[in-house]
Amino acid sequence: MLNRMIAQMLPYMPKRLVWLFSKRYIAGEQLDDAVFVSKELNAKSILVTVDLLGEFITRIDQAVQNKNDYLNVIDRFYAEGVRGNFSLKPSSFGLLIDEERCFELVREVLVRIDSYGSFLRIDMEDSQCTDREIALYLRLKEQFPNRVGLVLQAYMKRTGSDLESMLATYHSEGKRLNFRLCKGIYIESPEIAYRDYEQVRMQYLKHLRFMLEHGIYVGIATHDRFLVEGAQKLISELNVSKDRYEFQMLYGVTPALRDSIVAAGHTMRIYVPFGQDWFGYCSRRIKENPKMATDIVKALVVRG
Ligand code: FDA
Repeated sequence: MLNRMIAQMLPYMPKRLVWLFSKRYIAGEQLDDAVFVSKELNAKSILVTVDLLGEFITRIDQAVQNKNDYLNVIDRFYAEGVRGNFSLKPSSFGLLIDEERCFELVREVLVRIDSYGSFLRIDMEDSQCTDREIALYLRLKEQFPNRVGLVLQAYMKRTGSDLESMLATYHSEGKRLNFRLCKGIYIESPEIAYRDYEQVRMQYLKHLRFMLEHGIYVGIATHDRFLVEGAQKLISELNVSKDRYEFQMLYGVTPALRDSIVAAGHTMRIYVPFGQDWFGYCSRRIKENPKMATDIVKALVVRG
């Protein structure tokens, strides 16, 4: 209850206060920060997926700017020899303004990624984007079969049927579907999304089993120990080879669990966001943090 109240107050709090709690979740505001953090993670045998923060733009010229910024990020990461790939939110490329233009701009990014032999993950945003983001993924996959993947959300009731229909049409030996599976972070209505915590967990394991059984490459994106253990059981039960999955976590969240997964010999990739447009992303992270309310109250009352 207190968590929810404080979460609603975040937009009205001084930005400097919100920054205090936000900074653990992002590499920093500059590209140099993202390179530095990524190299630190690489040194611990951890891969990265880099995200230039930004979402839900209102003008298409912002999308063009974001595309140029991404190209710059990709060149720099390649020049620095960082081991990792890239994630992006299509709403920051104008998905909700001009779908065709968005496709062209993301395609330009993929051409650059392809030239370096890297990979692009399309993040999944709220439900107004789901159909559009699936369509964008499938269209890009036609041209870059092994260079692009999508995120699917376990809490969405449609995910099972989306998986089945994509498997029927777009999956083959040389052109595997590639998904990151997460619980889902946006607030959706109960008509379209499961809201109960245990139900979302069960859906997650059901979809994960389906993906692993059908040879779909999966990024197992969670900090939930119950799901991590469930995934490890599934991997050994189905005898899934290491080139068919990886674990993924967000920068700044559950590093001890992360390190234990690496120590057990699994591939781990950390989502490293950076940039000046951090408020939306960090607000979602702060809301997920069980200790958030007490920490913020302490900062307000104790530190003034
Ligand atoms: P859960 O929220 O139950 O967390 C499990 C435990 O982890 C908590 O009990 C707590 O200990 C710890 N924890 C979790 N979040 C924390 C935080 N912010 N601060 C401190 N501790 C925390 N969603 C989406 O809709 N679209 C997307 O494209 C993506 N992309 C994505 C990429 C990656 C790599 C990850 C890991 C996650 C996403 N997500 C996402 C977010 C995802 O949907 C989900 O909201 C979060 O991962 C939290 O869910 P968990 O499975 O971690 O469980």
